[in-house]
Amino acid sequence: MKKTFYVTTPIYYASGDLHIGHTYTTVLADIMNRYKKLMGYETFFLTGSDEHGQKIATKALAENLSPKNYVDKIVEKFKNLWNLLDVDYDKFIRTTDDYHKKAVQEIFSKLVEKDLIYKGSYKGLYCVSCEEFLTSEQINEEGLCKVSQTKPEILAEETYFLRVSQFSDFLTKLFDTNFLTPESRKNEMLKNFIEPGLEDLSVTRISLEWGIPTNEDPKHVIYVWIDALSNYITALGYGQSENSLLKKFWNSKTEIVQYVGKEITRFHSIYWPVILEGLGLPMPTKLISHGWILAKDTKMSKSLGNVIDPIAVINGFSSDALRFYIAKELPTERDGNFTEELFIESYNTNLANNIGNLISRTNNMIVKYFDGNILEEIDLANHQITNLKNQMIANYIKEMNDYQIHKAVDIVMRFSQELNKFIEDEKPWALEKSGDTKNLAVVLKVLQESIAVIIHLLSPILTKSYSLMLNQIGYNKPLLNIYELESGKLVFEKINDRKIIFERIN
Ligand code: ME8
Ligand code: MG
Repeated sequence: MKKTFYVTTPIYYASGDLHIGHTYTTVLADIMNRYKKLMGYETFFLTGSDEHGQKIATKALAENLSPKNYVDKIVEKFKNLWNLLDVDYDKFIRTTDDYHKKAVQEIFSKLVEKDLIYKGSYKGLYCVSCEEFLTSEQINEEGLCKVSQTKPEILAEETYFLRVSQFSDFLTKLFDTNFLTPESRKNEMLKNFIEPGLEDLSVTRISLEWGIPTNEDPKHVIYVWIDALSNYITALGYGQSENSLLKKFWNSKTEIVQYVGKEITRFHSIYWPVILEGLGLPMPTKLISHGWILAKDTKMSKSLGNVIDPIAVINGFSSDALRFYIAKELPTERDGNFTEELFIESYNTNLANNIGNLISRTNNMIVKYFDGNILEEIDLANHQITNLKNQMIANYIKEMNDYQIHKAVDIVMRFSQELNKFIEDEKPWALEKSGDTKNLAVVLKVLQESIAVIIHLLSPILTKSYSLMLNQIGYNKPLLNIYELESGKLVFEKINDRKIIFERIN
């Protein structure tokens, strides 16, 4: 049986257009999903939209639309963006979908039955922008929410609570494993929320209409987080008669990877495991909590209005260029930057000057010296470049298996640089001049094979250009499984044309 892999992104609020920050998370998930396919896994990739809550209701009202009509419009734009970015998800879940709403009500009821949810009353501060009750930690000196910089509302109402406080031992044990990465975020959760003593979480609102009502007490509407978090299992069929996907992808044998931005780590590392445990379901394998993309030191966000539009970047450059920047230049542990200047610099250095140049030079020499096809029988098994190449493949696999996409890309880029240097050192033009056809064929063949490997390894990232790149070095077959690449048995065809794939940007 094939190994199984399930990857999710947060479901983004359908409250406005998505920006570069959202494309960051979704592209990482898409890259990981494509990588797992190359490794021979059966995969499932879920994304979607979070469509309930006060913020969305208010926005719809401002545009004179019903909330549903408002979110319908936004969701079309989400899907359009993922299409432009070549994001190959298997399912797009909307929290307004009927099957989801019913399943969420069922989840709520099950937790009530188990006495994990009880009725009480709540008084405190609520941030509408983040759809979150705030602790004193989350409020700055001016009384504003630290994340959204907006003023929280004072709320005092009857509410149902989830008994999070009962799960202290369970969570302490969970945090002893390495399910949450990076380590720094794990320590933050321990220090700020788990060690000081967990509080029960308010999970319903009565002053909210745009949401899923509870079956038990319909004036109580399920406040966004139980609704939102449940999407990861309702999308697979939880609470429905057809649940074969749930059986296949939500079990302890499947590698379940959830990508989130750091500001929603608490919901995914504390409340979500509590819900899953309450329902008797296994935990995800890995929660990857990445940093923020900053705009001049603060988080890029819809509510702050300091965003970069990904569609403008795709139209101005290309989807592959954007995917590459995300993969290479934004390390998960830290916050990252996205400016046009940095973007162009990275593009020129990596895609135009390094990879692009390597392909173009090799293509040119094979055409010029061998009429596009090296027919000599050559054994490259013990060639120094073959050794480097196999080491590089192993290192790439190691980093990708550890979800370190930027390190894996860096390994490939450094190998590509080595190959450019190899050309300088071996001087094929001099070999040709001196009539040393045998060595000339060896040099060009080992380049051709190595480049084919590079392109295969970058194929989860450069989804639109990999086949063009492969074609430039005479490889026109479907992608190989990664393990087949190590065998070095690639069959090439005659190279017929020459294209510049990554034109330098000035
Ligand atoms: O939080 N840098 O939705 P949301 C990096 N609906 N990532 C960023 C970012 C930035 N500047 N801005 C946004 C929600 N993101 C809830 C989620 S899940 C059950 C419910 C990304 O529209 C990042 O993944 O506010 C972040 O966690 C997410 O968008 C927040 O999207
Ligand atoms: Mg947000």
